[in-house]
Amino acid sequence: MVKFVISGGRPLKGCVKISGAKNAAVAILPGVLLADSPCIIENLPEISDVVAICTALRELGATVRFIDSSTVEIDPTNVNSFYVSKEMTQGMRASSYFLGALLGRFNRARVAPPGGCDFGVRPIDQHIKGFEALGAKVTIENGMVEARSQKLGGCSIYLDVVSVGATVNIMLAAVKARGTTIIENAAREPHIVDLANFLNSMGANIMGAGTNVIKIRGVESLHGTTYSIIPDQIEAGTYMAAAVATQGDVTITNVIPKHLESIVAKLAETGAEIEQFDEAVRVKMSVRPRKCNVKTMPHPGFPTDMQPQIATVLTIADGTSIVTEGVWDNRFRYVDQLTLMGASVQVDGKMAVITGVDKLKSAPVKAVDLRAGAAMIIAGLMAEGTTVVEDSGHIDRGYERVVEKFASLGADIHRETENDFIDSLAE
Ligand code: EPU
Repeated sequence: MVKFVISGGRPLKGCVKISGAKNAAVAILPGVLLADSPCIIENLPEISDVVAICTALRELGATVRFIDSSTVEIDPTNVNSFYVSKEMTQGMRASSYFLGALLGRFNRARVAPPGGCDFGVRPIDQHIKGFEALGAKVTIENGMVEARSQKLGGCSIYLDVVSVGATVNIMLAAVKARGTTIIENAAREPHIVDLANFLNSMGANIMGAGTNVIKIRGVESLHGTTYSIIPDQIEAGTYMAAAVATQGDVTITNVIPKHLESIVAKLAETGAEIEQFDEAVRVKMSVRPRKCNVKTMPHPGFPTDMQPQIATVLTIADGTSIVTEGVWDNRFRYVDQLTLMGASVQVDGKMAVITGVDKLKSAPVKAVDLRAGAAMIIAGLMAEGTTVVEDSGHIDRGYERVVEKFASLGADIHRETENDFIDSLAE
């Protein structure tokens, strides 16, 4: 088990470089399966979800060669399997993208149901609705989801809920289908646009990504490409929130400021001074945060993946804030951990009422999921004393070199694994 140990109370200062976007990477990597020659993917984040997908690609028969830590060459030409087991994807949510990609390539896919962070029920009915509209028959048997068709054909699909995953999966399956597919009520997240740009760079014909209507004209084949993944909006937002939480002064580089608008707007409401440059933002905070209300929504709304981090900042705000979760049924599981640190938060369904306290106090806490883990780091940085965050392996799923990056900003943070503990007993 991985633990992060944080001694709080130091303002973060300096400059941190943001890595490639996790949620773009986990869609683009399976998308490589659709190419008929090798692809080079640049600006890949060094995170465990990327490692898991690369392992699954290898097991499917692709040749995966890292050119450096953030660049990979993948040759999918020898892939001859449409079967992705649970062991291959290690319970990742993004394993579902193998369904769309393999269906698009072989007209057949057999994939273990997706796992991922526990936010209550995480259905895939809209993914299945999309595959069926494209002409596939979808069955769930013996714990596996299977989709197959003779030949996929273009169609019109209206998504009943705005779903990132369903939008990605339908794009992957439809890109080589016969005819034109239209996705209405599509997700508009930056990673959807990134996936469309990647597929277009392989010869696809996708229009409208970034709006709620995406039009995909099927093409016969897709060729290899060299493509650089966009910077991670949520990693950037996390360091921005940490700068505010610690009354620091941090410049966050390698970002697309347009992707950060909703985060900038909310952190500015708390009193942060935020300067935007072409590819950087500087976040400076010199006062106690002011209360503010936040409601998460699909893009361009405030991202649900920043909800635990901003809620954590608001635990020490001057006044009472209301945070409403507009995407997931149950994304406040981490609140119990904040309460252990002295936060005053009342959760009622999808709403949390946060009454700001003067300070958080250190306590042993758990990273109950990826972004909750990031929030626990922020809480530890704010708190008096030493906070131990258990189960921090969740954080490595989505944040590259997180301990090193926070330490480079002056945080007192280090990583301990069970082996370190055993070693220290032996000493
Ligand atoms: N939904 C359905 N049916 C479906 C699919 C989704 O009802 O078939 C509902 C969900 O229950 C949820 C809402 O639609 O209430 C949105 O779910 P979505 O499909 O958009 O989420 P996802 O694709 O499973 C991705 C990110 C999540 C992020 C959400 C929302 C990836 C790999 N994951 O999940 O990221 O929270 O979009 O923006 O892209 C994270 O990075 O920490 C993370 C959890």
